[in-house]
Amino acid sequence: MTLCLVGATALAGCARDAAPPADSAATPEGTPAATAPAAHFDQHSYAEPGKVRIEDLALALAVDFEQKQLSGSATYTLDWVDPEATQLVLDTRDLTIEKVVGERADGKWADLEYTLADAQPPLGSKLTIEAPQRSERIRVTYRTAPQASGLQWLTPAMTEGGEQPFMFSQSQQIHARSWVPLQDTPQVRFTYTAHVTSPEDVMVLMSADNDPDAARDGDYRFEMPQPIPSYLLAIAAGDLVFEPISERSGVWAEPAMVEKASAEFADTEKMIEVTEELYGPYRWGRYDMLVLPPSFPYGGMENPRLSFITPTVIVGDKSLVSLIAHELAHSWSGNLVTFVTPNHGWLNEGVTSYVENRIVEALYGKERADMETAIARNALREGIEEMSDAAQSLAIRPGVEPAVDADGSEVAYDKGAWFLSFLEQRFGRDVFDPFLRGYFDHFAFQGIDSQTFIDYAKDNLLAKHPGKVTEAELEQWIYEPGIPDSAPEVSSPRFDAVDTARKAWLDGGELPATSVTDAWTTQEWVHFVEGMPETLPVDRLAALDKAYAFTGTANGEIAQRWYPLAVRSGYGEANEEIAEFLQRVGRRKLIMPTYDALVKTPEGLALAEKVLSDARAGYHPITTGSVDAVIAKAKGEATTTQAD
Ligand code: BES
Ligand code: ZN
Repeated sequence: MTLCLVGATALAGCARDAAPPADSAATPEGTPAATAPAAHFDQHSYAEPGKVRIEDLALALAVDFEQKQLSGSATYTLDWVDPEATQLVLDTRDLTIEKVVGERADGKWADLEYTLADAQPPLGSKLTIEAPQRSERIRVTYRTAPQASGLQWLTPAMTEGGEQPFMFSQSQQIHARSWVPLQDTPQVRFTYTAHVTSPEDVMVLMSADNDPDAARDGDYRFEMPQPIPSYLLAIAAGDLVFEPISERSGVWAEPAMVEKASAEFADTEKMIEVTEELYGPYRWGRYDMLVLPPSFPYGGMENPRLSFITPTVIVGDKSLVSLIAHELAHSWSGNLVTFVTPNHGWLNEGVTSYVENRIVEALYGKERADMETAIARNALREGIEEMSDAAQSLAIRPGVEPAVDADGSEVAYDKGAWFLSFLEQRFGRDVFDPFLRGYFDHFAFQGIDSQTFIDYAKDNLLAKHPGKVTEAELEQWIYEPGIPDSAPEVSSPRFDAVDTARKAWLDGGELPATSVTDAWTTQEWVHFVEGMPETLPVDRLAALDKAYAFTGTANGEIAQRWYPLAVRSGYGEANEEIAEFLQRVGRRKLIMPTYDALVKTPEGLALAEKVLSDARAGYHPITTGSVDAVIAKAKGEATTTQAD
C-alpha cells in the first residue's frame, strides 16, 4: 500500500490510477452556471465530475446516539455529462455500504453492482457503482462508523446541560464522505433534501431551511434549494433551542448558553445589512448561528443558513465577534463563489478575511479593524518565514501538479486578505467595492480557480483603470512566495501605546497601571502578550500574572498566546490551568500552540501526553488527529496520514 502524506509531499500514485489533465478551464465568461463546466483535477477526491454529476441529493437518515451512527440512504439525481459514462464513482470513508439500487427506464428500482475499494488515506475508499443504464436516480443504503472523521458524538456529560447527547458534523475539508457517500469535491454543486429521525426530545438542524418554530418530535425535514458543494453539508442534533436576533437571524444553542450567545451576537443583523450594502443581497434566506460545545475543532464553519460557531468567542464584550463577520462573509466568498478545489483556498478564506475586516470596520470602527489586521499580519510575517516557497504562495500556476492541501494556513487567510487590501488601496474603494460586488454576481453559485480570478480582474479592474496595477503584480501576489514589496502597511496608534508600555516594563520600569489597561480590549491584550520575548524569567511571568491574572483567563485568544510563553519559560505555576484549558477546549487554533510548545521538552511532552489521554474521549477526531501528530513527531514516530 502506498503511504500518502498530507502536506507538502506530492501525492503521486496515491489518489488515482490515471490523473486527468490539470485542466484550468472554469466556466467561460458569460456562460450560465447551469451548463456543466469542464472538470478540474482535484486530488482530494475520486469523483469524476467530467463524466457524471450529482445534481440533487435526497437523504433519509436515522440518528442513533447509542451506536454513534447515522444510517439510511442517499438518493442522487444525476446528470450524465459524458455520453459514454456508465460508472458513478463516489468518495466514502469508513462507511458500510449495504445496498445500491438504480431507477430503471420503467420506473422500477433494481440492484446495481458496486465495488468498495480498500481505504487509501487520506482519501478514503473509492466506491464505484456500475450503472449500465445510466440511471437518472441511484440510491445507496449505508451506515456510518462510530469514528467517522466528520462527526463528533458527545455523551450528555460532555454537554452544557448534561441531559441529552449531542452530535455534529464538520465536513470541510474532506470529511463529508465519512457521513454521506458523495462526490466530495467543490466543483460539484447539488441541492438537497433530508428526512432525519432522532430520539424525540432531540432537535436536529442542518445547513438548510431550519424552522425556528419546528416542533421537537424526532422527525425532521429539510430542504436546501440552492446548489452547494459537499463541504457545506452539515447536521447537528442535541438539546437545542432558538433565540431570535432579527427577523431573519438568530441563535441555536443549548438552553444554558442561548441568552449569552444571542447577546454576544446581537449585531448580526447589522452585519448582514452592511455586507449587503457593499456586496449585494444576502441570497440564502435566513442566517442563523449554532453554538456548539467547546470541543468544536474550529472557530466557525460557514455552513449555509446556519454557521457553526465555537462557544470560545462568547466572552461577554463582543470583542471576538469578527468570527461571526467571517462566517457571514462566506455567504458571498466561498458559499456563493467557491474555490474549485481546496488548492485555491485563498478564494474562500482570503476574500472572506478581507470582507470580514470590512464588516468589522463598518460596525466597530477603523481602529478595531486595523488592530485585527495588524495581529493577523504579524502572525503571517512570522509564520511564512518557516514555510516552503510553495506553501508561501496563494496558489500554484496552472499546469503544475499540486499537493493535497486539506487544511489551509494563514497564507490563504491573511496573505489573501492582504492582496485584496492592496487592490483596494491602489484602485480606491469607489472602484474596488463595485468590482468585488460584480465578481460575486458574475460567478454566483460557481466554482472558480485562481487563474479565473486573475483573468476577471484583468478585464474588469486592470483594463478599465489602467496604470494602477500591473499584471505582473497580480501574478506575483498569487503565484510567488513571500509578501510583495507593494503590500500596504497598517498602523495602529493603540498598538503603538501597547508597545511603549511593554517596552517600558521590559526595560525595568513599571507595568502599565490598571487605569490604563482597563481601557484595553482583547486585541490590545493579545498584542501585549505577543510582543513579549521568546521566554521570560519565571518571576517576571509571576509579576504579569499577579497584575493581570493571565493564567486561567476565560479569553481563549489570550490563553492561546500566554500559555505557550509560560511553557517556553518553564513557568510551572500555570500547568494546572494549562491542563484544564487543553482539556476543556477542542478548538485547534487555540490549543495547538500550547501543545507545540509543550512537546519541545521531555517534561512538557509528558504533560502533553497526560492531558491528551484525559482529553481524548472528549476531543473531536480532527483535534485528536492534530494532537496525535504533534506528539508522534516529537517522539520521532512516523505518522500515517491525517485527513483534515
Ligand atoms: N471554513 C473555515 C474553517 C475550515 C477551513 C475548516 C479549512 C476546514 C478546513 C472557517 O470559515 C474559518 O475560517 N474558521 C476560522 C475562523 C477565523 C479565521 C475567524 C477558524 O476556525 O479559526
Ligand atoms: Zn473561513
